[in-house]
Amino acid sequence: MDKFKIIGKSRIAGEVAVSGSKNASLPLLAAMLLPSDETILHNVPTLKDTDTLIKLIAGMGVNIKKEGNTVIADARHVANYYAPYELVRTMRASILVLGALLGRFGEAEVSLPGGCSIGSRPVDQHLKAFEAMGAVINVENGYVKAHAPAGGRLIGCDFTFDMVTVGGTENVIMAASLAKGTTRLENCACEPEVVDLANMLVAMGAKIDGIGTPTMIIEGVESLHGCEYSVIADRIETGSYLAGALMSEGDVLTTNTSAELLHPVLKKFEAMGATITTGDNWIRAVMKGRPKAVDIRTQVHPGFPTDMQAQLMAVCCLADGTSTIIENIFENRFMHVPELNRMGANIRIDGHTAIVTGVEKFSPAPVMATDLRASMSLVMAAACAEGESIIDRIYHIDRGYDNVEQKLKALGVNIERIQG
Ligand code: UD1
Repeated sequence: MDKFKIIGKSRIAGEVAVSGSKNASLPLLAAMLLPSDETILHNVPTLKDTDTLIKLIAGMGVNIKKEGNTVIADARHVANYYAPYELVRTMRASILVLGALLGRFGEAEVSLPGGCSIGSRPVDQHLKAFEAMGAVINVENGYVKAHAPAGGRLIGCDFTFDMVTVGGTENVIMAASLAKGTTRLENCACEPEVVDLANMLVAMGAKIDGIGTPTMIIEGVESLHGCEYSVIADRIETGSYLAGALMSEGDVLTTNTSAELLHPVLKKFEAMGATITTGDNWIRAVMKGRPKAVDIRTQVHPGFPTDMQAQLMAVCCLADGTSTIIENIFENRFMHVPELNRMGANIRIDGHTAIVTGVEKFSPAPVMATDLRASMSLVMAAACAEGESIIDRIYHIDRGYDNVEQKLKALGVNIERIQG
């Protein structure tokens, strides 16, 4: 297993070009199964997770290739509707092929997902919605086996999600785009990645109203056509690098990104004392002195994103005062806390709340990456600690951060990959 060796202490400063969004790319890649001709998708990041989804789709017989950041897929011929455990277990988002397969072919067999170990993360809402659209679903031997009612097409319906789910909303809008009749979905996720998918579906000929709102109305069409589309910037990658500036009296300029995508995060950065300036496609964070303590509660969009919780916690660790962080989305998303504490942080957990008493500095330590986003909090903490830290299990980082070593080096971090 690869490790990172990081020698601090660094001032995190410089310019970094943000890649396309991981979380938007995954549903957009799954949506490439929907049209019966060629789709071209630009700005796809090079990541373990995007590779996994491309492999998954290729295994179904789709002619798909990635050239640089562009993926070209021709889904004219699909040989099977099967997503095997070997691929799905490495990435929960593989479940997104279920909606596309059921919508277009009326049939799918998809392994139940694995992925980040941040709580139990069921997919009951996805399945409940498909059932409401007439699908017959059986879960057998770890696989979801689903087929549409007689006639092979799902049937539009009214459905209210019991909770806001990003993947659930994405899965169901893909299926509903090709269903017979109109689907009215309530309590939809409004995250920018859901909006990006809906916009691509519209570019494929889908009829969707209410994009970016909790109520979406989808009038099913007989077929979708290919399109050329570009993935939005990764708001979490953007926020992760900007957070480095706050931890190190740094100065980080992120380009190829958009402040529109991360207002709640930028507001917190400002409350912590950073000077944030933005332009059409860039955001800069400049920090002088120690961060101020803040209170954060993760919420669905447009609230503070759970995927930035660990990185903000790393900033709070160095703040002047005590911060409170409440995790409302996932039940088990404080696994980075013991690791940050090993680096000298002072964090106490009480249920869904972390109480972070700021310390003056991190100390170097061997630590273990626990999930994708949490890994970045450890990398930044190591960069700010004076001396050598080793971060183990960085396959988590490789799942979600494009070109991470080069980008961190450009920001002044002394980082080296040790192959294991
Ligand atoms: C997506 C993101 C992930 C982010 C999360 C919340 C991708 C690939 N991943 O994950 O990075 O942290 O949104 O913004 O886009 N739930 C159920 N039943 C369901 C579905 C969800 O109980 O059927 C629960 C989950 O366990 C979790 C919460 O709802 O507690 C939110 O999950 P969801 O929004 O579905 O997250 P993902 O789509 O998996």
